[in-house]
Parts: sequence; structure tokens; C-alpha cells
Amino acid sequence: MLYLVVVLVLGCLSQEVLGCSCGRRHPQSAYCSADFVIRGRFIGKTQYKTEEQGRVKYEIKTTKIFKAPQGMDDIQFLSTPSMESMCGYEHVLSNKSQAFLITGHAVNGNLVIDQCNFIVPWASLTTAQKRGFEEVYRKACSCNIVPCYGGSCSLESDSQCLWTDVLVHWQEPLNGSQSKYMACVDQGNGLCTWESQKPSVIAARNKEAQSAATAQ
Ligand SMILES: *[C@@H]1O[C@H](CO)[C@@H](O)[C@H](O)[C@H]1NC(C)=O
Ligand SMILES: *[C@@H]1O[C@H](CO)[C@@H](O)[C@H](O)[C@H]1NC(C)=O
Repeated sequence: MLYLVVVLVLGCLSQEVLGCSCGRRHPQSAYCSADFVIRGRFIGKTQYKTEEQGRVKYEIKTTKIFKAPQGMDDIQFLSTPSMESMCGYEHVLSNKSQAFLITGHAVNGNLVIDQCNFIVPWASLTTAQKRGFEEVYRKACSCNIVPCYGGSCSLESDSQCLWTDVLVHWQEPLNGSQSKYMACVDQGNGLCTWESQKPSVIAARNKEAQSAATAQ
């Protein structure tokens, strides 16, 4: 019994020590810091053979590339460490028809993903986030989203937007409204501000711009 307790405690400790911890990121930051961003389906999984022990390779059916290293026009395989403690991304192949938004990095010409990347079912994204990945984030990477963890948060330059979802939704900042509905966008003069990407707000914004143009 004592043995079991010791093993459990050690198990927890080692998880704590070896465990993978990732800083949270706004989806726009996830897009901008990634080397590739795609929409695709996980269709297969293989353990690497001898030359690359300890890695898992996922076969992907890519349906849309939002961002990729230059010259790469299809993405078929993504690799990840097989161990979760090494931040390996474990994907359960339960439904091969389900589309995912997948971000990741290029390392020596290989595309890799891990638990710290933003990988979520495409259907779980809000309309504003889909619009973000499809067109808005790409044009907004000169802006920086700075998380505010409490205390006195302030901006150090015009290119920054303060991410306060972390304060309100500390357990899951991605559930906050800046994450779900806003992008930090350059207003044309290097000044970045939060801008709603909700369809209704965009329609109203366009209408306003149009009537301003007509009035001139
Ligand atoms: C699998 O995913 C597709 C696309 O999201 C969905 O239409 C279908 O209902 C899912 N099937 C199961 C068994 O969950
Ligand atoms: C975040 O939102 C999802 C979907 O609305 C919900 O299921 C989940 O419980 C929320 N997580 C937290 C920690 O509030």
C-alpha cells in the first residue's frame, strides 16, 4: 500500500517535472507565430521506424492551406514526439471526416506539431475566428497581442493590443471574447487596435464607411 502511494506521488511529481507546459495564445498570435496553418483531416498514424525513434507521423488530408513555407503546395505528413511529456500531440483517430485547424512549425524541412500548437476542430471555431484564419490574421501580423496576467498591464508601443481574456477566463482564456470575436488590426498608420470580426459588426462597419464615402 505504501509502495503504491509512493509510486503515485512520484508519478505526479515526475509529470509535474517532465510535463509539457505551454503559454496560452490568442488565435491570431498562434497564426502569426506558426510556420504553417492548414485546415485538414487526420487520416492515418504511423510510428517512425528506426531512423527517427520516438516520433509519430500523422497522415493528413489537407483541404486548405492558409500559411506554409515558401514553395510548399501540399501538406501530407506531420510529425510529433510520441511522448506526451515531450509535448507530443496525441490525436485519437475517431472520425477521419472531421476537419481540424492545425498550426505548427517547420524544422529542417519537416513539419511538426505539438501540444503547444493551436489544433482544434474546425467546427468549434467561431465565424469570426474562421474569418481570422482565412484572411484577417495574415494581414495583422505586424500587430502584437500582449497577454495581461494581472497587476498593472500597459502597452509599450502602438503595435500592441492587450489580451485581457487571461484575466477574466483564466482557466480557459480562449473562451474570452477577444479570442472568440476580435482581431488586433493595424488601422493603417501602425496603430493596432482590437476590431470585432463578428459578421453583424463588419456589415455595420462597411455600411458606415460607405455612407461616409457617399457624403464626401
Ligand atoms: C464525423 O465528422 C463529420 C464532419 O464533421 C460529421 O458530419 C459526422 O457526423 C461525424 N461522424 C461521427 C460518427 O461523429
Ligand atoms: C470553454 O467553453 C467551452 C464551450 O463553450 C465549455 O465547454 C468549457 O467548459 C469552457 N471552459 C472553461 C474552463 O470555462
